[in-house]
Amino acid sequence: MGQRLPRAALQRDDPLNGLRVDPYEKGWMIASGIILVLFLLAIGLSAYHGFVLPGHEETLETRPEAGAPRFPEPAVVQKGPGRYDVYMRAQIWAFVPNEIKIPAGSTLTFYLTSADVLHGLLIERTNVNLMALPGQVTKSTARFDQPGEFRFFCHEYCGLGHQIMWGKIIVEPRS
Ligand code: CUA
Repeated sequence: MGQRLPRAALQRDDPLNGLRVDPYEKGWMIASGIILVLFLLAIGLSAYHGFVLPGHEETLETRPEAGAPRFPEPAVVQKGPGRYDVYMRAQIWAFVPNEIKIPAGSTLTFYLTSADVLHGLLIERTNVNLMALPGQVTKSTARFDQPGEFRFFCHEYCGLGHQIMWGKIIVEPRS
């Protein structure tokens, strides 16, 4: 047992009030401080050089004087037997198109952009997981072999109607 001092004396002599920080813990406190600084630098750099999403395909010209952006109207375009391009627009609070019908065994390539704020696209039971930002097109591909319904959702909070922002892909059995 250490020597007992009055509380006032403890506070005056030792700002940590006798609290000993384990060197291992101190090391991690310093490391997490450094990591925070690195993250801040990364945010600063990406804000300066332009923010690019994972799965980035192209950047649209969104300046008003440049005219209409090159992204086509939302559509499902057949590119060949069992191959489709899906041009999808996310907007508050819907996907356009929000229902896609394809035969089983089809491969879909999604091109996604946003008309307003940050949205996301997650298709259940696939690897499609994209973010949508105005002015950027992100791309992902999935193959649908099993007939059935695959719902897709917005997974980036985008305002009051976020939870109603969804749609479905209907995969029909091959005739
Ligand atoms: Cu769109 Cu959440």
